This record gives sequence, C-alpha cells and structure tokens, in this order.
Amino acid sequence: MNKNKKFLITGSNGQLAKEFQHTFTEQNVQYTAFTRSQLDITDFALVEQTIKNEKPDVVLNCAAYNLVDVAEDQPEIAHKINVEAVGNLARVCQANGIFFVHYSTDYVFDGQKNAPYTEEDEPNPINVYAQSKYQGEQAVEQVAKDSLTFRVSWVFGEGQQNFFYKVEQWLQQKDRLQIVDDNKSVVTYAKDIVDITLLALEKGLRGLYHLTNSGACSRYESVKYYVMKKGIDKPVDPISSSHFVEKAKRAPYTLLSNQKISKELNITIPHWQDAVDRFIERKNK
Ligand SMILES: NC(=O)c1ccc[n+]([C@@H]2O[C@H](COP(=O)([O-])OP(=O)(O)OC[C@H]3O[C@@H](n4cnc5c(N)ncnc54)[C@H](OP(=O)(O)O)[C@@H]3O)[C@@H](O)[C@H]2O)c1
Repeated sequence: MNKNKKFLITGSNGQLAKEFQHTFTEQNVQYTAFTRSQLDITDFALVEQTIKNEKPDVVLNCAAYNLVDVAEDQPEIAHKINVEAVGNLARVCQANGIFFVHYSTDYVFDGQKNAPYTEEDEPNPINVYAQSKYQGEQAVEQVAKDSLTFRVSWVFGEGQQNFFYKVEQWLQQKDRLQIVDDNKSVVTYAKDIVDITLLALEKGLRGLYHLTNSGACSRYESVKYYVMKKGIDKPVDPISSSHFVEKAKRAPYTLLSNQKISKELNITIPHWQDAVDRFIERKNK
C-alpha cells in the first residue's frame, strides 16, 4: 500500500509535482519534495546524499527540462537534465533499493504513423528536447529494473506552466483566439497521471507505459472545448501551425495508445473532456 510508503519528489514547483503533493497531503501519505533550488538534479553528489539521508521508498522524478524551442540552442543543458541527471537518479535509486518513477513524452515519436502509438513502436525524436527525453528513458532502462517510465502528453494542471493557463491569459488580452489545428495528440490531466501512477505502484508494475487521458484532440479542439465549458463568449479559430515560426520541429501526430496500462490495471482512463470538466470544476470551487 502507498500509505505506508515514503515518497521523494524532485522538481516540486512543476505542475505534476504539485499534483502529487496535493494528493499526498489529502491522503496523508508521507513525502518530501524538493524544488530546483533545494535539489538541482544535475548536482549528482547532492542527489546521492539527499536520497541516502531521506531514505524514501519511491523517488518520483518530476524535474525536467521542458523548453522545447529553447532546447534547440541548449542541447547540452537539455542533455544534462533530461539524460545524465535522470540516469544518475535511477542509478542511485537502484543501488539503494528505492523504486524510481520517471516521465517522458509523446514527442519521442515522429508523427508518421497516423494511428495511436503503442509501447512497441520505435521512437524517432525530431527535435533536441525529444531526443533528450528518449535518451532519458534509455538511461533509466539501462540502470534501474525497479522503475516505471510513463510517456505522457500535453499535461495540464495547477500552476502557470500549463497550456490552459496560457489560454486564460490570451482570453484577457485578445478579442478572438487563433489556435493550431493541424496537430493531434491528447491533453492529459496531471491529477489522472498522479492517480494512475499510484495505482501502478500499488499493483507492482515495472517498465515503460503510455499514460494519457482517452480520446484525441488538436490544440484547437482542446481550447474550443475549454472556452465553451467555461461559458466564455469569445471566438476561437483554427489555424495552421505554418502561421507560427517555431525553432523546434513538431510532429503532426503523436497520439499515444493507453491500452496497455488500462488493461494491466483493469481501468478505463477518463476521456480528456471529462478531465477538463473536473479541472474547471476544481478551479471554480
Ligand atoms: N507539460 C507537458 O505538456 C508535458 C508533456 C509531455 C511530457 N511531460 C513530462 O512530464 C513531466 C512533468 O512535467 P511538468 O509539466 O510537471 O513540468 P514542469 O511544470 O515544467 O515542471 C518541471 C520542473 O522541473 C524543474 N527543474 C528543471 N530543471 C531542474 C533541475 N536541474 N533540477 C531540479 N528541478 C529542475 C523546474 O524547475 P523551475 O520551476 O525552477 O523551472 C520545474 O519546476 C516531465 O518529465 C515532462 O518532461 C510534460
């Protein structure tokens, strides 16, 4: 049972980390959480010392370099955080009998498939960020057999890093929104990632899983739905990604199949619209 376990969270100011802390506080689960300034995961000696001092049962690595466009000019920094530091965390955990949980991304795929990507599909990352996340997965696989890596997509939750927060800002600044419609994946609620991660830990799963809300959407469809559900009367127009100059290449289709984890945990993962509904409800409370 997770109730008897102690968790250590890295990157504790991030949106997924915040959701873990929220859930653990609600459920009275023991945890310690470290911000980047308290525990920079690229400080290998500090990481080892902290983990040995804290003696957690599970490390949840919510720290990541997520600046997809900036990464094109900072490949060394992306590599250091998303590959070397992740490999170090996994190594320290394995050496100390600690279970390691890590998160990767739908961006590891190149978008050529046109059907939901499964765990058996071969990644082919097309930008620096995605390459670093894929190498991070491999670093975990190489050193920590007691680990779980979840590929997630378009995460939304509390805090200012999430896409719907940006939408809220745009809604205040603009008369109409123009949102990209030629990309397909699925928005995924941090709360659902947390609950399913904890269930997977309880059931003793190991290895690599795709963990997303069910269904599929473009960014445009997700924003259109969000704005409608919030009862905001402002037009949202679909637009091609060619209208925006972005440094990093993005694949047009990176939808992940969540069938494997659904089957192994015997669950039906909520549809993304249901997840957006719950997110809005919680914010309205
Ligand atoms: N957000 C998405 O749409 C998305 C999509 C696919 C996959 N993922 C993956 O899901 C996981 C959780 O993402 P998220 O959305 O919660 O990310 P997030 O909100 O950007 O949080 C990442 C956190 O990591 C921290 N961090 C960065 N470098 C660090 C370092 N060297 N040492 C310690 N902490 C460091 C950041 O600190 P600061 O606050 O100080 O910058 C930030 O608080 C990540 O592995 C991410 O790659 C996310």
